[in-house]
Amino acid sequence: MDLKQYITVVSDYPKPGIQFKDITTLMDNGKAYKYATDQIVKYAKEKQVDIIVGPEARGFIIGCPVAYAMEIGFAPVRKEGKLPREVARVEYGLEYGTDVLTIHRDAIKPGQRVLITDDLLATGGTIEATVKLVEELGGVVAGIAFLIELGYLNGREKLKGYDVLTLMEY
Ligand code: PRP
Repeated sequence: MDLKQYITVVSDYPKPGIQFKDITTLMDNGKAYKYATDQIVKYAKEKQVDIIVGPEARGFIIGCPVAYAMEIGFAPVRKEGKLPREVARVEYGLEYGTDVLTIHRDAIKPGQRVLITDDLLATGGTIEATVKLVEELGGVVAGIAFLIELGYLNGREKLKGYDVLTLMEY
């Protein structure tokens, strides 16, 4: 299946000059969403993962159906202040300023094999920070799966040494 036909490219959103990749037209097509999920499930099985981790919000959309299909858990990575118990936290750089991501300290057991999921690999900053959280808890990053990679932003550079799957590239 050619998944790109289900992505809507929106010009000048959220700012002039940006070609936004809207995944909602893939998600609202049941067959396309299932096909994309199945590709990631296959990858996760090959990597023998024990748990899925994804950052809010769109990392949940990609990772949760994979966890469900594999009958394994999903651990959310959230912005600061959103998780109620003890967290690990990491600060990461944005275009302007910094942001913080957190994960519950007991979400991953040391040695567990983790698949990280998100919709989009752009600069790689979000997933680089997510990798740090997983490793701080003693998890092993067995793979990282995205729907879309913006190749021209070189996000893969930040994820060097990790196994990365992307289903579409722009
Ligand atoms: C978007 C996207 C990825 C991230 C990619 O999330 O869903 O998580 O940016 O960018 P990067 O590779 O440059 O880090 P956003 O921060 O817009 O959050 P949202 O999913 O909650 O809207």
